[in-house]
Amino acid sequence: MRLSNRDSGRPYVDIDRHALCTFLDACLSETELPSLRDRVAGLRRDIMDMPITSVNEGFALLPSVEPNDPGAAFSRNVLLEQLQQILEARTLRRAHYYLQRLRKSLTEVRRSVVNDINLNRWKEYDTIRTDSLWLVDRRDASGAHEAWYWGNFIPEIPRQMMLRYTRAGDWVLDPFAGSGTTLIECRRLGRHGLGIELNAEVVAQASCRVAEEPNPFGVTTTLVTADSTTLDFRALLGAHDVDQVQLLILHPPYHDIICFSDGERDLSNAPDVEAFIESFADVVSRARKVLEPGRYLVVVIGDKYQDGAWIPLGFYVMQAVMEQGCRLKSVVVKNLDRTRAKRSQQALWRYRALVSGFYVFKHEYILVFQT
Ligand SMILES: C[S@@+](CC[C@H](N)C(=O)[O-])C[C@H]1O[C@@H](n2cnc3c(N)ncnc32)[C@H](O)[C@@H]1O
Repeated sequence: MRLSNRDSGRPYVDIDRHALCTFLDACLSETELPSLRDRVAGLRRDIMDMPITSVNEGFALLPSVEPNDPGAAFSRNVLLEQLQQILEARTLRRAHYYLQRLRKSLTEVRRSVVNDINLNRWKEYDTIRTDSLWLVDRRDASGAHEAWYWGNFIPEIPRQMMLRYTRAGDWVLDPFAGSGTTLIECRRLGRHGLGIELNAEVVAQASCRVAEEPNPFGVTTTLVTADSTTLDFRALLGAHDVDQVQLLILHPPYHDIICFSDGERDLSNAPDVEAFIESFADVVSRARKVLEPGRYLVVVIGDKYQDGAWIPLGFYVMQAVMEQGCRLKSVVVKNLDRTRAKRSQQALWRYRALVSGFYVFKHEYILVFQT
């Protein structure tokens, strides 16, 4: 079995699940700690000698977790750590506890309803973020991901959200799809994706890019030219024979920070902040109607600076979504791409900050809500 874990490069070994269970059962029947330790130490040495299953082409970030698979890819380090823990147990009882826990992780899957994470093997999901501060130093530019669109988000955002809040085969809706970053990630992770984008030229170009990404799971990834403030989302889903999506990802313009078009329906042309928030809230209330109850809604947004004042767009948007009855689950702060602004511009902003008494934006928000 091949396993891909491109992001972490963590080494995996292929284990014969049945043989390992039998071995653990034998260890569990030991009544003396020294002989149990001898057995476990032998296994640990064997694992250290095993060839590492190489990290390769795909994008399936999660290890094989189905107990019915005869083979199982295991994180070498996690497995060695667990065996070490057994070796260091001071009592037979404690050693048996660790052995049983390891055996359970080989034979039982424990999942929440919103994702495919096997909680019995949670230590192995090291590519999944759980902290609220994201410092990302490098943009993933692999495959169809290309930073051709000014104002796109890093692929890691939709990827992380899908891994935490969807299962394989779920549907994801992105009402501000831009260059289709979400849809490319959908293809990689085996989620169906629907993207809406106002600008037809952007849709045409993004559709070509998305189509270039391999689609190993045969999912639907469709981009539609439409105005998300008026679109009938239910009808759009109906055309795909579904009536609900399992995740909403919204990455609207940060009001007028980047002007995406001349169109008056474009949120980046909203006449003022109030109108922007109103239009955005409108999209949320419409799109929410097709979100499966209990599922997650994610907003990616930054603040802006205008007339000498910091305008907390992120906070306004957060409030607007909460007023619609969504429960705020997390506020993630992510650093802004350092490579974006030219060095000379960065220096200018630093000068302006010193002159005018403000701090230069270096972050944006990923707001996570549950419905
Ligand atoms: C911040 S960008 C999203 C970028 C996207 N996440 C990506 O990675 O390429 C916001 C997008 O919303 C689009 N947009 C603005 N108003 C819209 C509306 N009323 N309906 C649909 N899309 C809209 C803009 O054209 C722009 O492409």
